[in-house]
Order: sequence, then structure tokens, then C-alpha cells
Amino acid sequence: MEETSISEKKQSLLDKIQDVSFRRGIAYPTGEIYGGLSGAFDYGPLGTLMRLKLINFWREYFVKDENHFEVEGSLIIPEKVFEASGHLAKFNDPLVQCKSCKSMFRADKIIEDKLDQNADGLSPEELDKIISKNKLKCPSCEGDFMNAREFNLMLKTEVGSVSGNVAYLRPETAQNIFTSFKRISHSMRAKLPFGVAQVGKVYRNEISPRQFIIRVREFKQMELEVFFAEEQLDDPPRFEELADELLPILTREQQAKGIEEPILISAADAVKKKILPNAAMAYYLVKEKILFEEVGVNPELIRFRHMLPKETPHYSGGNFDLEVKLSIGWTEVVGNAFRQQHDLTSHEKASKTKMGIQHTTGNVIPFVIEPSIGVGRTMYCVLESCYRETDDRDWTWFQFPSTIAPYDVQVCPLMKKDGLEEKALEIFEELKSEGFETIFDSSGKIGKRYARSDEIGTPYCVTIDYDTLQDDTVTIRDRDTMEQIRVPQEELPDAMVLLLTGEYGLKELEDLLKESTE
Ligand code: GAP
Repeated sequence: MEETSISEKKQSLLDKIQDVSFRRGIAYPTGEIYGGLSGAFDYGPLGTLMRLKLINFWREYFVKDENHFEVEGSLIIPEKVFEASGHLAKFNDPLVQCKSCKSMFRADKIIEDKLDQNADGLSPEELDKIISKNKLKCPSCEGDFMNAREFNLMLKTEVGSVSGNVAYLRPETAQNIFTSFKRISHSMRAKLPFGVAQVGKVYRNEISPRQFIIRVREFKQMELEVFFAEEQLDDPPRFEELADELLPILTREQQAKGIEEPILISAADAVKKKILPNAAMAYYLVKEKILFEEVGVNPELIRFRHMLPKETPHYSGGNFDLEVKLSIGWTEVVGNAFRQQHDLTSHEKASKTKMGIQHTTGNVIPFVIEPSIGVGRTMYCVLESCYRETDDRDWTWFQFPSTIAPYDVQVCPLMKKDGLEEKALEIFEELKSEGFETIFDSSGKIGKRYARSDEIGTPYCVTIDYDTLQDDTVTIRDRDTMEQIRVPQEELPDAMVLLLTGEYGLKELEDLLKESTE
């Protein structure tokens, strides 16, 4: 396997990331040997490790740290749920079809791509007017378009041997939580406020999937529905811990003026000035900003955009998408919605099941704050933010933080012979048993192995050489600086903890080891 040479032909950043992802087993097309399936990707060994780390980080920080409950709902959901939630009637995208070649496109994306103008939330009639006024043609064959129409994004199926039992693959994880709200709150004897979290697959029959794992038809979400009594929305638990943190917010007024860069305002001030609907929303926006930074997304490339009225459902008390400035432009990665009482009241009405919960003020239907994070899009943001082409080496590399790097450490024998490989395998097993994600590489020249290790963003390489056989020391190579130090084999697990947690850099660790032997 060859690492990428920087001198290779000029490609877009997205193409480069896709290339390295395919080659190194981060993600690649589903059923690739048969030509693949548009909008479907498999996560390979490295992508799976990264995705697990991301999900575990979210679980620790968004679920356990908050004492929220986690559930795992069915992916197949009966039709009545989506009648009540509004997905059957309204979960649509506008579709246009070419009269000549019959290719189908999202009408709003055609306008955005060709005219660089936001067409989100426009009706098919409004889109038709823009398309005909600007004489927009089919990108595949330059043919004319038929009129735009609404296309429902849910994937429909029939369940069981008798036809007519219609169900849908869920387009969001949220509906499992709303429909089971009574069960969850009763079984856990939950008191407001409390949250219910879910991570899992969802399906959307996207009209034009594109841009690698950014817009696909099957993806994972990490969702949280946090239930509050109305008076708790401005006084959520622990708000003061994060109240002074700065949030990059793009207001509706800024958008009307064509401004793209957000203002920086503390969470407390954003609530006081009514830029955000309540402190509960502000609290979760800060947590998201921290999560993104911890997994390696450059915080300067993040903004929370107040969705425009035409992009916001009528029941929402305010939607603020977390967007990341990628090489393809600002991209939504998290949907944050103040869903108020909409979902629980809709399901109460349709199912005739009372959704109220006992609270100090009586029986109330809670208000909902929903941070919904796309796992694949977050992964892509990490890949772009951490991708490096630097003058100090002839290969591309990822500067992943250890929170997300697929492996913590690579173990290499300098040579395969003279007992070096056996010794390296012993150290490899030892590091694995201590809980480090460890990879072993003994093939090819040592320089090539360092390059392969950098290419997948492994923070440290441990090399076993002839000195190791004499004095039981090994070298640790730092991916970022390419510097090396020697440490005694018996100190290696502790040294790795100090390095991976960021408590010590390589040089400080070397000094620490010197001091302890003096
Ligand atoms: N329950 C709320 C909800 O589903 P959303 O904004 O539709 O909200 C949340 O979706 C996140 O899911 C998005 O911010 C994005 O990261 C991810 N997502 C949505 N559609 C996607 C697609 N076709 N491919 C990949 N990720 C997608």
C-alpha cells in the first residue's frame, strides 16, 4: 500500500480525502465490485474505529455527564407514527426531472449550484419561476426541466407476508423517543428536566446523494431529546458552568445583509439579548462547540446559523444549525431545534395516549430541545480539519487528536530478523492488553512505515531496535514533530498515557524520565 505523494495531480480537498479514505479503509462505496450504490458507503476498519471513538466521546459528554438515558429503537416504524409526526405529508424535497434524459435533481440545489443563491424552503412554483427565468438546464444533457414537484424522502417497505402492512425505515431517531416517552419516563421514574439519547442508523431517499459521506441515503445520527417544564427552559441545570463560553452565532439580521462570518457572544449574553430562544438551547450549543473542538474540528470554522423563517418548521421556537466551513462551503452538521411541545402533543392527539408527566406545577407536556448530530458529516469535518500537506515530509498525513485517531500507537521492529520482530510482537501485545488501540507494522523500510502511520494519523510509533535487545529501551516517535526519545520498556504504558492525554510532550517526558533516574 503506497502513501499519497504530495506531488500527485491537483485534486479538490474532498477528492483527496475520499481517495485516502478508500485506500486506507476509512469509508468506501458499498458493493463497490458491482459498481456501488449511490449514497451508500461502508465504513472500513479504520473508519469503524474512528466512528466508535466519536460515538463514545458523545456518549460520555452528552449522555453520561448529564445523567440522560440512552435507548435503542427499532429502525422499522409503523406508518401511523409518520402520519402523526408530519413526515408523510411534509418530509419532502423538491425534485425536477429532465425532459430529455430523465435525470432527476433537487431543484433547490440546481439553483444553489448554478446561481449561488439559497433556495431552501421555496415551493415548487417558486422554484419553477427561478429555473425558467434563468433558463437553467439539465447538468447532464442541457435538456429542459419538467415542473418541480415534492418528493417524499422516506424509504417505504411492507412488513410480514400479507401485503398492505406499510412501514418506513426511520428518517430520524427522534420518533422512537417521542412515541415511547411514557414508557421511558415511567420506567425510569424520570423527573423534569431529563434527556433521552439515541445513536443509530436512519434512512433518507435523497434525490441527489453527493460529496462522499456528506449527503448519503443511510447514515448515523447521535440525537438527544431533552424534556423541560416551561419554566426550566431559562434555568437549566449547570448552565452557569458554561454561561461565559463564547458562541459563534450568525443571526438572521446578518444573513439579510449577506454577512457570512458569525458574531462571538457569550452564551449568557445570547440568551439575555434574545438571540437564542432560551438558556437550555445555549447550554447544548456550547457543549457541541466543545465536542467538535475535542475531536479535531477547527473551532474557527464553526458557526451556529439561525435558520431563516422559510427554513424553519411552523412549530419551532428557533432552529440553529451548527455549520462548518468546509472546502465545499458552509455545511450543516448538527440540527438544533427548539421543538416546543409539538411532537408529544401530535402523538397524544393521534394515538389518544396521554403524554403529560407529573411535575411540581401539575401534569405538564414538556418542551423539547433537540441537538441532532450527523455522525458521518462530523467524521468528514474531522478528516478535512486534520488533513495535512507539509514541507517537512513527502507524504500527506492526518493530525488527529488522540480522541479520534483510529490507533493510539503503531509498533514496528526495525528489522524482521535477529529476534526484533518477536520482541516487537511482545510489546504490541503488552500495549493492547493495557487498553491502547495498537497496530503492528513490520513490512518494508522503516521510513515507509512511519509514512503509513502518519497517513492514518497515528499519534505515536514505538520502534524496537538492536539497543532494545541490549537494554530493554524502545524509541517513541511523535507524529507531529517526527522527534524521537528512548524510554525503558517497563515505562512504556505510563509514558503512552501521559502523551496521549496531552499531559506531557515528548521533550517533557524525556526530562521526566531523566529526573526519575538521577
Ligand atoms: N431529528 C432532527 C433531524 O433529523 P436533521 O437536521 O434533518 O435533523 C440532523 O438531521 C443531522 O443529520 C444533520 O445536521 C446532518 O449532520 C445529518 N444528515 C442529514 N441528512 C443527511 C444525509 N443525507 N447524509 C448524511 N448526513 C445527513
